[in-house]
Amino acid sequence: MALIIRQATFEDKKRIFRFLWEVYAGQAFFKFPERWCWLFKENPFNTHSGPCVWLALMDEKIVGQFCGMHVSFKLGNKLQPAIWGVDFIVHPKYRGRRIAQKLVQAVYQKHRYLFILGPSPAASRLFSLLGTEVPVRVSILEKKIKPKQLVLPKTSRNNIEICQISKFGRGINELWRLASSHYYGLVKRDTKYLNWKFMQQPHTHYRAFIAKTCEGICGYVILRIARPPEDNVGLIADLFALPKDLHTIRALIQFSIRYFKSEKVHSIVMATSTHSLAHSLTQLGFRKVRDIPFLVLSSNKPRKSSGFQNRNWFLSRGDSDWDQYPSLGNYATGFSST
Ligand SMILES: CC(C)(COP(=O)(O)OP(=O)(O)OC[C@H]1O[C@@H](n2cnc3c(N)ncnc32)[C@H](O)[C@@H]1OP(=O)(O)O)[C@@H](O)C(=O)NCCC(=O)NCCS
Repeated sequence: MALIIRQATFEDKKRIFRFLWEVYAGQAFFKFPERWCWLFKENPFNTHSGPCVWLALMDEKIVGQFCGMHVSFKLGNKLQPAIWGVDFIVHPKYRGRRIAQKLVQAVYQKHRYLFILGPSPAASRLFSLLGTEVPVRVSILEKKIKPKQLVLPKTSRNNIEICQISKFGRGINELWRLASSHYYGLVKRDTKYLNWKFMQQPHTHYRAFIAKTCEGICGYVILRIARPPEDNVGLIADLFALPKDLHTIRALIQFSIRYFKSEKVHSIVMATSTHSLAHSLTQLGFRKVRDIPFLVLSSNKPRKSSGFQNRNWFLSRGDSDWDQYPSLGNYATGFSST
């Protein structure tokens, strides 16, 4: 049986959905049709007219796929189109035949930057065989909530106002402009991205809050309360501010703790690649439970000269498709839903 690897077109949609139905079983409803359309049709960063879905076919039957979530990624001083590898799966009957390996090779030859956050154990070895680089690890931090714990005092600087929003406005672009220059590598967090990623994502029900002073927006936080069948956990999907603005960072973390306490979650989980954010979380009672790798496959240059090591990367749980509903498994130990 000949194996064909090719990029999907929108005409393949029905048979892709049949494949997803077979391989994702109970979780399939959350993979299509809403999420699939959001991810591959409505993504404003898609640089190709078709879906970023790569198929492995045997006798016209789909036996595996590797998908990409397009984003605009700041690397050094430049914004680059890049993809997060998502929804990577080979049909159980066809595993062990190097299909996954061929899928990844096909995709990364077409894309300059392919990023992976927290690969599954089965995929980790495969990515290492392909020479992926691990420029940084993302720490997962957890805070257990005791039922009778005292509610924290209000923010240390009372000129910060934190309010919920239903949509990100243009003011956030100024925060991006000021804060992004302090990091080497991160997804561009502008109005277009934040609204698509968090406010329009099906099934997740994120709540977004901005922090502002009389000078304008100084930070934001995006929260999600897990729902059954997930554990009773509060998830800080993304928290962004100027890295040296510890007042805002602490105010947003303290706000999140109060918010989740009022929702009676039993623990709060956040993931970050930055030491300053991890430090603030630790000071507020979070404990590091695990690190997960951030992988880079770049068809751009020989890996030795990539310059990706020892850089200031900003990565969070809200990046890639790490946080999606339902995320089954142990929040504190980290997992990839793909
Ligand atoms: C991960 C997955 C896509 C691999 O598919 P596959 O077609 O069987 O993988 P390949 O045959 O191309 O394997 C390539 C290499 O990966 C490694 N690998 C594959 N499956 C593995 C497993 N279960 N455990 C450890 N290593 C594994 C092996 O080193 C293999 O090379 P080898 O044959 O020389 O030993 C498949 O197991 C799968 O769909 N798993 C469930 C979903 C998932 O985990 N997706 C990845 C999310 S990041």
